[in-house]
Amino acid sequence: MLESLAARRARVARALPLDREVVLFAAGRPVPLPENTDQVYPFHAHTEYYYLAGLECPGAVLAYDPLEGPERGWKSFVPEVTEDERIWEGRQPWPGAGAPLSALEPWLVLRGNRPLVMLGQPLAGLPYDVGRTAAIREALLHARRPKDAEETRLLRRAAATTASGYAAILQHIQPGATERALEIELEAAFFRGGATATGYHTIVGTGPNSAVLHFPPSARAARRGEFVLIDAGAQVDRYVCDVTRTYVAGEPSAFQRDLHQVVLTAEERAIARCRPGVEWRDVHRAAAVDLVSGLVAMGVMRGDPESLVARTAHMLFFPHGLGHLVGLGVRDASGMAPGRTRSTEPALRNLRTDLPLEAGYVITVEPGLYFIPPLLCDPARREKFRDAVNWELVDRHLETGGVRIEDNVLITADGHEVLTAAIPKTL
Ligand code: GLY
Ligand code: MN
Ligand code: MN
Repeated sequence: MLESLAARRARVARALPLDREVVLFAAGRPVPLPENTDQVYPFHAHTEYYYLAGLECPGAVLAYDPLEGPERGWKSFVPEVTEDERIWEGRQPWPGAGAPLSALEPWLVLRGNRPLVMLGQPLAGLPYDVGRTAAIREALLHARRPKDAEETRLLRRAAATTASGYAAILQHIQPGATERALEIELEAAFFRGGATATGYHTIVGTGPNSAVLHFPPSARAARRGEFVLIDAGAQVDRYVCDVTRTYVAGEPSAFQRDLHQVVLTAEERAIARCRPGVEWRDVHRAAAVDLVSGLVAMGVMRGDPESLVARTAHMLFFPHGLGHLVGLGVRDASGMAPGRTRSTEPALRNLRTDLPLEAGYVITVEPGLYFIPPLLCDPARREKFRDAVNWELVDRHLETGGVRIEDNVLITADGHEVLTAAIPKTL
């Protein structure tokens, strides 16, 4: 086992508020396709297991007994490889991965009268303490937030691979390029650059599709002068980057340049605010004010930016949070600080990530401004924000799409480092 994994287990064990409980972390099992094809969806060990076991092993379980201490209390169980698996999949035993899974039951029987905490994918037929499991899960989520040296190393590799994909795509951003063709070129470059997978489903939106926040690439071709928004990242050994760039196929209009510049300025100012101790909700709110200030300067919105944000008017054009934690998966350990619930402040109510930043966190910074017809054509919103928006100008831009710029930022002891800084973001 990697030395860093042993250190990680010990650190996590100390961070979990355990008493006499026994804790299991189960990897989960492959999910068969609905048809009778002998095929399964790509296996993805549960993150809570993978983080502490480092194995992509179906059916495996990691166990922890706090009475044996943070270093010695861990035991790994892996299923024995069957003959069928050797014949059909060429699977080999996991070298040094642990005891056979059949030894788990006697291990549990020895600790039979103690509460069971069941993390990862619950094992069928094994009753566990639901309340204690929820509490320990929250503590584990929080303990996973600061990235250790090994995780940061993998994230740097994912960032370099992601950068190689974005470098390769530039020559293809042309009028006539389809969203699907751009996806293929980008992902091919990720894989050539060493990606083990894409970090999530690649988003490519041309023209009006660039205003759809998670648009799956289609056969639509970019027309001359349209926005092309690409949100994609490479995965290296389960570690993922999450990057967005917005381009124009051909020459940008003055309006597109201005919109892009407003988002870029807001992004750079938000990144500059990232350091330990800062509340993410404050970075989000300040970015919303910056975006609204830009829209006011462009003549799209009217009024005082702070008051417009307090009235939630920014959510007409910036309807999502400023970012989320990223690393072991695209939404790695995101959420609330322990004990915190969603803010009741109207301008913050769509924030799903709400915590103070700490050294070691890796967070996306991803402001965007979009012309989203389902929001902007809604009569109730038009009425509520009648005075706040130049609706005539908006009506002329309902097909414009949108701009998002997204980087991945490592919080350091005294500030931050942009892991994805090698990916150009000017228009
Ligand atoms: N790639 C999806 C997101 O930005 O969260
Ligand atoms: Mn993101
Ligand atoms: Mn993204």
